[in-house]
Amino acid sequence: MTAEIIDGKKLAETIKQEIKTAIDDRKRQSLPIPGLATVLVGNDPASKTYVASKIKTTAALGIRSLSYELDESCPQEKLEALIQELNQNPDVQGILVQLPLPSHLSEDNVLHTISPKKDVDGIHPYNAGLLSRKYSEPLFYPCTPSGIIRMIQSVCPDISGMDAAVIGRSSIVGMPTAMMLSRCNATPTICHSQTKHLDEICRESDIIVAAAGSPGLLKGAWIKPGAIVIDVGINHIPDETQPRGYRLVGDVEFDEAVKRAGAISPVPGGVGPMTIAMLMSNTLKAIDYR
Ligand code: GUN
Repeated sequence: MTAEIIDGKKLAETIKQEIKTAIDDRKRQSLPIPGLATVLVGNDPASKTYVASKIKTTAALGIRSLSYELDESCPQEKLEALIQELNQNPDVQGILVQLPLPSHLSEDNVLHTISPKKDVDGIHPYNAGLLSRKYSEPLFYPCTPSGIIRMIQSVCPDISGMDAAVIGRSSIVGMPTAMMLSRCNATPTICHSQTKHLDEICRESDIIVAAAGSPGLLKGAWIKPGAIVIDVGINHIPDETQPRGYRLVGDVEFDEAVKRAGAISPVPGGVGPMTIAMLMSNTLKAIDYR
């Protein structure tokens, strides 16, 4: 058996096209267009690449873009003052502060400063709290988990009753993904570095989301035949044969996994493009909260 490849890039293109059409319609009707402010602090090369990609997509869809770059040494007060200013700016509907921040900054305090109505990343504690409440809805669903759910539903629209393993418990991926799986009536198990018998939990799971940031952590042999596997890992592996001197690999032992899974997402071209598409979708939605 060879798994169906879940083409995140293609899925993201379709979603982005729908957003562009909606923006074009708004322009034709002289309705307000959303604006997205990106905030990058420091010189982390991966963060720079991600933010550049988000800005490029924003422009391609006709969304207004404001970009802020702050020094690595930027004090907490300066960053929070900028966010307060963006909270008040009527031309800004979405605020994205790229994570991780330099280690001297408090990520938690920064996230608390963003207005929940402009939290297009869906990671403000207010929105994270609403996500975990049964009869509530957050103002925004978080981008990577939303992309993951869309990818799973592209091959299996109804996941009710399925068992799911989520490997990783980060605030922006693992934890909210588990919440969203539960909202789709699947039964998630949140696994982490102290989890005993990770292999056994995976072997019993109909869905596995690998988001640990550890190359090849999920072994092909651990995958239940026919399972849906979503690889969230983006790991840079030194490789002199590549023009950039590295190659990207996920958290899944792909060559073995593809022989057992029913469907699997690749790295690159899987979750990454979907995260950006969902950010654009949230930015369009943010117009409703003006
Ligand atoms: N760093 C890695 N992924 C993300 C994301 O989805 N949002 C933000 N703000 N930072 C990130």
